[in-house]
Amino acid sequence: MNTEYVKLDLSMPLDAQLTAAAEVIKRGGLVVFPTETVYGLGASALDAGASQKIYAAKGRPSDNPLIIHISSPKEAEKYCVTNEKYYLLAEKFLPGPLTVIMPKKEIIPKTVTGGLDTVAVRCPENEAARALIRLSGVPIAAPSANISGKPSPTSAAHVKEDLDGKVDMIVDGGECRIGLESTIVKLDCDGATLLRPGAITPEMLEEVLGKIKLDGGITKKNETDAAPLAPGMKYKHYAPRAQVYLLKGKRGKIKEFIKEKIAEDKLTGVLCFDELVDEVGGEYTFRFGRADDGASHAKLLFKALRYFDETGVNRIYATAVGTDGIDLATYNRMLKASGYTIIEIE
Ligand code: TXA
Ligand code: MG
Repeated sequence: MNTEYVKLDLSMPLDAQLTAAAEVIKRGGLVVFPTETVYGLGASALDAGASQKIYAAKGRPSDNPLIIHISSPKEAEKYCVTNEKYYLLAEKFLPGPLTVIMPKKEIIPKTVTGGLDTVAVRCPENEAARALIRLSGVPIAAPSANISGKPSPTSAAHVKEDLDGKVDMIVDGGECRIGLESTIVKLDCDGATLLRPGAITPEMLEEVLGKIKLDGGITKKNETDAAPLAPGMKYKHYAPRAQVYLLKGKRGKIKEFIKEKIAEDKLTGVLCFDELVDEVGGEYTFRFGRADDGASHAKLLFKALRYFDETGVNRIYATAVGTDGIDLATYNRMLKASGYTIIEIE
């Protein structure tokens, strides 16, 4: 398939630039589009055949449900059984990087929800994403626009690496503002459960909803046989080719440790806080932002993982971020990228 590219000029009105993309969605094709979190691989959420093409392009197992994207929070009513908690969240955070899971209505095909009776809905903050959904006249089902097993793409260049020739169109809206996927919260009669951390933090959710549950898999490996609440969590995610080791401990000790590893093997990738970059040196050292700059960690993690794959390093050492604010989301993705491999340096 020949993939068409559309580069958006964000200083000009968007609708005219997105008409062609909306036409592709309307006729059941695949369009990659930007959001504030990561790029999405979209198709009409009301068209079972179109959404099936998403699974094929991504190489994604068909029991892993898709998020449906809407252009205004109120549209959720058409596709799922909304409740008071949804409106409280919508008022505070939507449009924005938050996905809410609720019981689905008949109109959403089960191919979209991986056979589940619930559906994940998200109204993105990104203007181009919302304009595309509005012009298409249908909700857009979209997972992250990477091939299964690769990090989510945060730029059109990443998307091209993975999906050139596999989709009808790629809309380039520049770098994603946040760089990690949306927060996912599941609402049911007995409360709310955080399934995936993102830029909307547990503290922010609790300000609106009161106490929420945190899925155990967020900061620990799921050791039980119980099915995870978000089916996607059972698949290996975001792992670069080389093994990633997360380093915890005093900064001075981490610095010495990394220097030793680089001396041992020049082909050692390092992802570390700016404060350490100059001291550790190394040819394949990637800046992660300052230790207290959670927004930079979120924005740079997936870019770094792709960079290491390109360089062909043999192993990767990364300074672990904390778990406050958006760092919880970054830490969760780092755990997955490392297969939960942590080195505590005494
Ligand atoms: O930021 C994002 O959320 C991006 C952009 C494109 O919007 N999308 C994204 O989609 O990250 P995806 O498919 O890569 O991740 C969606 C996650 C998967 O782990 C999936 O299993 C889970 O959401 N999910 C979707 N529908 C669900 C449902 N009904 N119940 C439980 N988990 C669900
Ligand atoms: Mg994904």
